[in-house]
Amino acid sequence: MRQTSLPVAGDGLIGERALVTGAASGIGAACAHALAAAGAEVVLADVADATPVAEAIVAGGRQAGAHPVDVTDPSSVATLVAETGPFGIVVNSAGVLTERALEDTDLAQFDRTIDVNLRGTFLVGQATLPAMRTNRRGRFIAITSELALTGRARYSAYVASKAAVIGLVRCWALEFAPHVLVNALGPGPTDTPMLDYEALPDDMRAAETPLLGRIARPEEIAAVAVFLAGPGATFITGQTISPNGGAVFA
Ligand SMILES: NC(=O)c1ccc[n+]([C@@H]2O[C@H](COP(=O)([O-])OP(=O)(O)OC[C@H]3O[C@@H](n4cnc5c(N)ncnc54)[C@H](O)[C@@H]3O)[C@@H](O)[C@H]2O)c1
Repeated sequence: MRQTSLPVAGDGLIGERALVTGAASGIGAACAHALAAAGAEVVLADVADATPVAEAIVAGGRQAGAHPVDVTDPSSVATLVAETGPFGIVVNSAGVLTERALEDTDLAQFDRTIDVNLRGTFLVGQATLPAMRTNRRGRFIAITSELALTGRARYSAYVASKAAVIGLVRCWALEFAPHVLVNALGPGPTDTPMLDYEALPDDMRAAETPLLGRIARPEEIAAVAVFLAGPGATFITGQTISPNGGAVFA
């Protein structure tokens, strides 16, 4: 029989405690929903208010709570983890997108992009991975981007930040093996507030979706995060898994 719904529900993560950053919106919110649907108790952390997402999860009979965090701020991240950790699963989805030609990118935009996407990943990893090693178990999933694999004109600050996240993941996979598995998840274009897909010119929209003719739903990215967090992914570490609808052959 043809499958029409995503296999994200189930009990594969019962007993797990998961942190999702950037959980107020988009891919992070979808990851929080999907991890909770799979049985995890989820801490939703964001600089924006993630309470509505947490309330929707709880209304569905699963466990979740919202907490403020600014992933660029070490004391904010430390407070979050001290008050809500330790975690068996971390999905770092907090991120910002910068689209600007090189000559028009000012240093403040570059710094902000690197701060949230790279420094944020570094701080969340530093605050959560050592406890995973102590507990001899854990999964860390860093959201990067398909664009880190391809590059893109006018996105150099963003692409550099996301390529650097892949560097962190490769090092951390080595540093925290064998009990902690660390992977990068690099989505292709996904229907979230970050990507104003409808506003893109037709040629760019077509270039975004060469094989499947559509962008991803956040739930399709979250399904990969749940897989990487779950019992089926015990031999995957240091990898960049890119659900991109065939836009990149890696
Ligand atoms: N949407 C796409 O097409 C796409 C493609 C590839 C990768 N990504 C990546 O996926 C991740 C999620 O993006 P999205 O599309 O869901 O975007 P989104 O804008 O819907 O969500 C990003 C979330 O990150 C939060 N955030 C931003 N700065 C923060 C900070 N300093 N501290 C804590 N939270 C912060 C925002 O408040 C927001 O809720 C990002 O890392 C993004 O780069 C998105």
